[in-house]
Amino acid sequence: MNLMQSSYNIASLIRKKRDRETLKEDELRYIIRAYSRDEIPDYQMSAFLMAVFLNGMSDEETAILTEEMLCSGEVVDLSSIPGTKVDKHSTGGVGDKTSLILAPMVAACGVPVPMISGRGLGHSGGTLDKLESIPGFSVNLDLNQYKQVLKKHNVVLIGQTEEIAPADKRMYALRDVTATVESIPLITGSIMSKKLAEGIDALVLDVKYGKGAFMKEASRAMELAKRLISVGESFGKQTVAYLTSMEEPLGNYIGNWHEVFESIQALQGEGPQDLMEVTELLAGTMIFLGGKADSVEAGIEQARESIRDGRAMQKFLDIVEEQGGDTEVIRNPETYPEASVQWDVTAQDEGYIHTLDAYSLGVAAVELGAGRMRKEDTIDPQAGLVLQKKIGAYVQKGETIVRCFSNNKQATDNADKKIRQAIEIKASEPEKTTLISHKITKEGVVSL
Ligand code: URA
Repeated sequence: MNLMQSSYNIASLIRKKRDRETLKEDELRYIIRAYSRDEIPDYQMSAFLMAVFLNGMSDEETAILTEEMLCSGEVVDLSSIPGTKVDKHSTGGVGDKTSLILAPMVAACGVPVPMISGRGLGHSGGTLDKLESIPGFSVNLDLNQYKQVLKKHNVVLIGQTEEIAPADKRMYALRDVTATVESIPLITGSIMSKKLAEGIDALVLDVKYGKGAFMKEASRAMELAKRLISVGESFGKQTVAYLTSMEEPLGNYIGNWHEVFESIQALQGEGPQDLMEVTELLAGTMIFLGGKADSVEAGIEQARESIRDGRAMQKFLDIVEEQGGDTEVIRNPETYPEASVQWDVTAQDEGYIHTLDAYSLGVAAVELGAGRMRKEDTIDPQAGLVLQKKIGAYVQKGETIVRCFSNNKQATDNADKKIRQAIEIKASEPEKTTLISHKITKEGVVSL
C-alpha cells in the first residue's frame, strides 16, 4: 500500500479516533509506518495511543494494527523445520513459571516450541529474567541460532531481538509512560505481533484475571481473550485461550532462581497442585494443536508421561546446556547460593487464609530485588518469596506463611509490611475459587 506522508494529517487522524470514529485501513497503516520511520513524533503518538485507550478499536482495526506492528520487523520462516510449531503466551502474573516447565514437556512429546519471551513487567515476573538466573544461560541468540537450536532440540527460549516487531518495542515504551498499557487493542497488537513474528502455526494463551493480573476483572480478561483469538485466527493460526485466576501467586515460589528451582521440582514430578493443573492443561492443549494427540486430555496424559519417564527433565537439561547454562546446578539445585537476608512472615491470628494478594506479594518481591523498579535496575536472582501456605490453609498464630529472601537489607522493612498486608486470615473457611474458569476458541466460550 502506497502511503505518502503528504496525503495524511496526523492531527486529524487523532481527532477521528478521539471522536470514536473507525479509522480506515490505509490511515491506520500510515500511523504505524510513519511512527516507525520517525515521521510522527512521540507527543502525537502518545495522543493517538490515549485516544485508542479511551475509545478502543474494532476487531478489524486491531488486526490491521497487529499486522503493521508485525511487519515493522522480520517474520521468521520456520517452514524448513518439520511439524506444527506451537507456542504459549501468558498475559502475566506472579509465580507463573509455566513456560519453564511446559516448553521441555511439549518438546519432549514431539511438538516444536519456538519461544520468544519477555522480561518482568511491573509486579509480574518474566521468563527471560528467570532463565538468566541459571549461571551462563544466554537468551540473546540471533534469529539464525534460534532456528538452529529449535531444529536440534525441538525447543528454543530467547528474548525479543531487534528484528522482532520493533514498532512494539517503541510503542510499548511510550505506553509505559503515558498510562496506556491496559488497553485491549493495544495489548492485543503488542502480544500478537511478537508471537506471529516467531514463525508459529498455533498458539495457546493463558489470559489471567484477578489481583495479580493486568486485567483485574474476569469480564475484561474475557474481552481480551476474544480479541487475541480473533486476531490469531485472522492470521490463519489456530488460537486457544484459557482464563485463569491470578488472585494468589501460582505455585509456591516467587523470584527468579526460586521459580527455576520450583520448575525443576515440577519436572521431577514434585510440582504443587495449582501450578501443575495450569501447566498440564496448557501443555496438553499445545500437544493436541501440534497434532501429536487426538484430544487435549490425551495431550495432558502425554505431558504427564514425559515427566514420569524423565524425558521432560532431560529436555530441560539439553536446552540449558545448548544455551550455555550450568547443568550441574540444575542437577543439584540445593548447591545454588542463598540470599544473605532471610526471615519469616508469620500468622498474626489463628484461622483460615482468605487472601494472599498476588499483586502486593509481586511488588514486595520486586522491592527485595526480584524485579526492576527502574529500567536500569539489575535483578537479584536470589531474591524472592516462598509461600509455606496457600489460600484455604488453616494456620496457628505464629506459624510461618511466607519465607523471604533478599540481599538488600534496606528493602526488608517495607517488603515485610507489604507482605503482612497481603495476608488476610479469618475464622470461617473461604469459599473455593476456580483456578481455570473458561476455554475460548473461535467456536466460542466453554465454562470449565
Ligand atoms: N505484554 C505485552 O507483550 N504487551 C502488552 O501490551 C502487555 C503485556
